[in-house]
Order: sequence, then C-alpha cells, then structure tokens
Amino acid sequence: MRTLIKGGTVLSPTGGVLADVLVQDEQVAAVTAPGVFDTADTVLDATGKYVLPGGIDAHTHMEMPFGGTFSADTFETGTTAAAWGGTTTIIDFAVQAKGTSLVSTLDKWHEKADGNCAVDYGFHMIVSDVNDATLKEMETCIDSGVTSFKMFMAYPGVFYSTDGEILRAMQKARETGSTIMMHAENGIAIDELVAQALASGKGEPVQHGLTRPSALEGEATSRAITLAQVTGAPLYIVHLSAAEALSAVAEARDSGQHVFAETCPQYLYLSIDDLAKPGFEGAKYVASPPLREKRHQADLWRGLRTNDLSVVSTDHCPFCFKDQKELGRGDFSKIPNGMPGVEHRMDLLHQGVVAGEISLGRWVEACSTTPARMFGLYPRKGVIAPGSDADIVIYDPAARQTLSAETHHMNVDYSAYEGFEITGKVETVLSRGKVVVSPSGFSGGTGHGRFLSREKCQYLN
Ligand code: URP
Ligand code: ZN
Ligand code: ZN
Repeated sequence: MRTLIKGGTVLSPTGGVLADVLVQDEQVAAVTAPGVFDTADTVLDATGKYVLPGGIDAHTHMEMPFGGTFSADTFETGTTAAAWGGTTTIIDFAVQAKGTSLVSTLDKWHEKADGNCAVDYGFHMIVSDVNDATLKEMETCIDSGVTSFKMFMAYPGVFYSTDGEILRAMQKARETGSTIMMHAENGIAIDELVAQALASGKGEPVQHGLTRPSALEGEATSRAITLAQVTGAPLYIVHLSAAEALSAVAEARDSGQHVFAETCPQYLYLSIDDLAKPGFEGAKYVASPPLREKRHQADLWRGLRTNDLSVVSTDHCPFCFKDQKELGRGDFSKIPNGMPGVEHRMDLLHQGVVAGEISLGRWVEACSTTPARMFGLYPRKGVIAPGSDADIVIYDPAARQTLSAETHHMNVDYSAYEGFEITGKVETVLSRGKVVVSPSGFSGGTGHGRFLSREKCQYLN
C-alpha cells in the first residue's frame, strides 16, 4: 500500500522545504523533490499545507487515579482526541500506589491501554514508594521499555518523596542511564499555606494558586537540580510554569549539567486570572503547578526560543466540571488537579508561530522531534525520513477555527480554551501510514495504537 503526499512544505527543526513524501505501508519510503513520483494507491494533495511529523505528547494522564476519582479520558477517548489534534504518540504515566510494586503497576497500565489506543503510546513510571525492591524494579521497567521515572516533591502523603528517597532513585538513574522526571514544587511548605488558607475561611479556587507561590517551584527546581548534580542523574523538569524555575534550569544547562525541561500550553496562554474567575468557574483551571501571573509567559516563550525549555507537553489530566471539579466546592484543596489539552497542543503552539514567538522549525522541534529524542523514540518517531514511522500531519496554516467544548473530542465537559480563535488546523493525520483523521472525519480505530518500547534519552552523549 503506497500513499503519496504531494505538493506540501515538509517541516523539520531546520524549517520547511517543498517536497513530496512517499509512504509504503507503515513507514516513510522516500522524501523527494516535488514530482519525482506521481502515482500511488492514495494521493493526498498538500499544496499550500505543512507536512510535519506527528506530534508527540510526552506528558498525559488517561484514566489517572487522583483525589478520589479518575481523569475523565480513557486511553480510547484520549488518544482519539490526540489524533484529532495531530498528536500521533502519547507517553502516559503508570502510577505506583504506595505499597505496590513497579512491575505490577506496569502490568496494570498495560491492561488499561493495550488494545484501546488510537495512536501509539509509551509509559513513564511514577515512583511514589522508594525502597530496595522498587529501586531494583527500575531495571525491570527499563528492560520493558519504560526508561523514565517521575517523582514528586509535592503532594505529601500521596506521591511525595523525601530528598533522601529522590537521591536514592537518582543514584539508580545514574547507574542505569535512565531519566528522572521531577514535579518540582515544595509540597511541605505548600501544605502549610493550604492549611492556613482553609483555616481562615478561604476556600475558593484562586487560593489554589495563591498557596503555591512561584518561589516554591523555583526552590524545588533548584533543589532537584542540586540532587541531580550530586548523583550525576539526568533530570527532566515536568510542567515548568515559573520564571524562577526557568532561571534555575538555564543556569544548570549553562554549566553543562544534563537538565531538561518542558512547559505546557496552559502556562503560555492562561493565567491566575482564570483561576480567579467568579464563583466556582476557576476550578476548571486548577492544576499543579498552578497558573501563574501573566508576567511569567514572556519568560516561558523566551525559554522555548533558547531551548532552556526543550519540550511542550500538555499534562493532559481532564476532570469534568460538573461531577469531578465539584468535589472541591468550598475547599479548593479537594478540587482534582488537572486540565484537559491533549487535542489542542499543536494548534496552540502554532499560534506561537503566527505571533512570531517561535519559528516553524521550533514548533516541530518542541512538539515532536525533541520529545522523540528525549524519550528514546528517534528516528522511529519525530521526523519524516526514510524508515521512520509514517506518523504525518497535513496542517492547513491558513484555516481558522474556534476552540470549544461543543466541538472538541476529549471526554470532558468544558474547554480550558473556550472561544480561543486559532489560525491553522489539522487537515489529515496518518498514524503508521493509516489515515486516521481526514476532512471526512475520524477513520482510525481503537486498537490501532501500539505500545512503544523506548530507548534511553538520546541527548546524553
Ligand atoms: O495538576 C496536575 N498537573 N495533575 C496531573 C498530575 C501531575 O502532577 O502531573
Ligand atoms: Zn506533576
Ligand atoms: Zn502530569
């Protein structure tokens, strides 16, 4: 089965070239000057469109247990929404509950995901119980294609690890060449501020932001970097939201340390003003780290340009406003933490191109090529080149659309970006050579997506 994508501008981190792409079965067979091939079983006309490697969202939470409920997207609904938005790979998190093993956790997440995904998927492992057995099991995870481990400096009593536990896991990461991903917020200090706010009768959603100041993200980020320096472990800071944290990452990178960071669209486009919306509306925007004051956004865009922020992921973790966010009405600390976004990352970052914040090449790099290399998927993913999986998006840069819960495909009853006017739109999506989204609709299938056994980070040498 041969598919020819003709007449488009093929994008990579170095920019765009007019070229045709020939797909044979599941892989890219050739990238040629326009017109070298003109017949195939299917010919897709990409004239005036961008042809880019499918997006890789390296931070999603489908069916994640949190705060007494589960995130609302299943692997089926979440990966279908991802495909609609031009994301053809997700890396989700298996979540170790305290007292359980990493291997049984991984088995559980395979049960949830295998046979249910519309696009390819991999896993990171959340380590919440550091002990001799868990540390040994990190090796088994790596052998099973899970080469990155998320730890938490936040959420005491749930996912939180002490500095000593983090140090031990980092030593194991150094020994095995795996990556520690860090949720860097000082959870001990935050819990005090939360208790004080609640004790003085302040229960509304904006308190979520006010009790998690950006300085406590900066402090935790610096501490994580120091622990990584002492142990020699590669460190990846997840969902970086604050200027203080970015400075710490930039300084570490300038010194040559293997420190990387991602940010998320919500920190580039939304702010604490959204959390402060009247009534309980702000609950829609409760996620951790919290949305920050607008002044942080310019720093984050700069970080994306300078590569101090290497990746944009969504931290997609949707909870319905009606039945789930409600759990925290009157007590912001009980609002399930997380926001939806897997469907909109490519579009939202394209707005950064339209606004002149980042280049076209940087869009592709931060949303596809770098996540592939960061998490051991390159060159199978993240690039349109002979031999790569034919995960390809045809993107119309001139189309206009308005984001809305009325039209999105995520299984959640609100949009964090309701009414956002977007320039550009995904037209066609191929996942391993199969057209899964086209102007006629969704033609993919549950079970099409395959588990990706990942190599280690490809930036270490
Ligand atoms: O609020 C968030 N970010 N929820 C998902 C879990 C996490 O910390 O990434
Ligand atoms: Zn986190
Ligand atoms: Zn997350």
